[in-house]
Amino acid sequence: MGLKQPENYVLAIDQGTSSTRALIFDHTGRKVIEGYKEVPQYYPHPGWVESDANEIWNSVLSVIASALIDASIHPENIEAIGISSQRETTIVWDKTTGEPIYHAIGWQSQQTASLAKELVAAGRAETIKEKTGLVVDAYFSATKVRWVLDHVPGAQERAERGELLFGTVDSWLAWKLSGGNIHVTDYSNASRTMLFNIHTLQWDAEILQWLNIPVAMLPEVKSSSEVYGVTQNFQFYGVEVPIAGIIGDQSAALLGQLALTPGTVKNTYGDGAFVVMNTGHEPQLSKHNLLTTIAYGLDGEITYALEGSILVAGTALAWLHESMQIISNVPESRQAAMASINNDEVYVVPAFNGLGAPYWDPDAKGAVFGLTRGTNRNDFVKATLQSIAYQTRDVLRTMKQDTGIEISELMADGGASRNRYLMQFQADIINTPVRRAADEETTAMGAAIVAGLAVGFWQNLDEVKAIHNDGRLFTPDMPEDRRQQLYAGWQQAVAATRAFKP
Ligand code: G3P
Repeated sequence: MGLKQPENYVLAIDQGTSSTRALIFDHTGRKVIEGYKEVPQYYPHPGWVESDANEIWNSVLSVIASALIDASIHPENIEAIGISSQRETTIVWDKTTGEPIYHAIGWQSQQTASLAKELVAAGRAETIKEKTGLVVDAYFSATKVRWVLDHVPGAQERAERGELLFGTVDSWLAWKLSGGNIHVTDYSNASRTMLFNIHTLQWDAEILQWLNIPVAMLPEVKSSSEVYGVTQNFQFYGVEVPIAGIIGDQSAALLGQLALTPGTVKNTYGDGAFVVMNTGHEPQLSKHNLLTTIAYGLDGEITYALEGSILVAGTALAWLHESMQIISNVPESRQAAMASINNDEVYVVPAFNGLGAPYWDPDAKGAVFGLTRGTNRNDFVKATLQSIAYQTRDVLRTMKQDTGIEISELMADGGASRNRYLMQFQADIINTPVRRAADEETTAMGAAIVAGLAVGFWQNLDEVKAIHNDGRLFTPDMPEDRRQQLYAGWQQAVAATRAFKP
């Protein structure tokens, strides 16, 4: 390939639920190129969501190759790789062959809901919350690991003999990139397994024992920014590129937004929507079903966060397109919503996998309310977009109750934040300005930041702050009585959804 003159770069992998990206950034934080590939999801039974770990890995190889080739950048000029990835999704693989023994069980999957209920029935919820900061739910990795060990013949024995490894997607990718040399994760990803004690910063022996998960399977937990190992792969033409950042995608977005001060809040509108508040260096336990989680480990310090996880956001728009076929692509949802002139409000509650924060109701199923003969497709699309904003308001209310902090601005990013209708409605319904990130690549930028800091590509966060661009501000513009009326309707819709138990 015709190579550019040496300039150095950082390569960020953003491995999300339904797609993988590789982005190359230069020293000014400019995105030089992006490679993109969709990753298939499988739904073998109602409520189950799986993907193929090898397909995830191949998507990573493919996007790295296309980014390097399209930008004519030689791997020698990549100073570091950072990995941000979907969290919780669980992969178990054979240490010797490198073959996964089962599909990756997706974070949205409900196949372990009964295992989670058993833990609650056994009275474990309180202790688990104290230790891990999490509400017991099938969302997290712990019950998914148990499920694989139960359902793949011989897996428990093989795990006990040290033949199997467990990892969330970050661990799997670091292991593959390093040619099987490193089995690591970082604090942010570990804190989503429901096996990690966020106070002692160790895998929790008691929870592991309750779930009979052999400790030998677990990755070593490291900071989010350090050189863990180097690439051993043909994609890099024999060049050993440092793997220097590992961070959960929601934490990466927090860093990418530079939400570094306690009290700052971002929402990433991806497949799900994740409202995360930086709470500083002490964990703050929620009284209202928010999650206490580790944002990142950087410079020898842990930064904690409070999180409200909304399980379905962009997924609902993909559903409108792929399953309902009422829009021909996701961006079209904006025109459709703007074209809706119906004031007889329709509510869509997209509880496809139960409801996440602050309800944590695994049995809820999606519902639609308020249909009349005049309801049309535009109203339906508008209601689906609005559901994302209403769920965000549910979480922000709860955050305020927990922390007493009045949120002065919501930082927004992620694919669906490109939708201007959604952003304006979001600002209107929370009566708070929403600042949309200047670049959609906030998550990838977070991965680039941790990797870049580890190798001295950027010296410190101040240097990163100097290259950050502020985004567009959406200011609230809705009369208070209208806001109250709309939100009251939503609350009724959620209550009715939860009451429906066929
Ligand atoms: O907790 C799941 C989350 O990390 C997935 O992110 O980008 O696929 O919505 P995303």
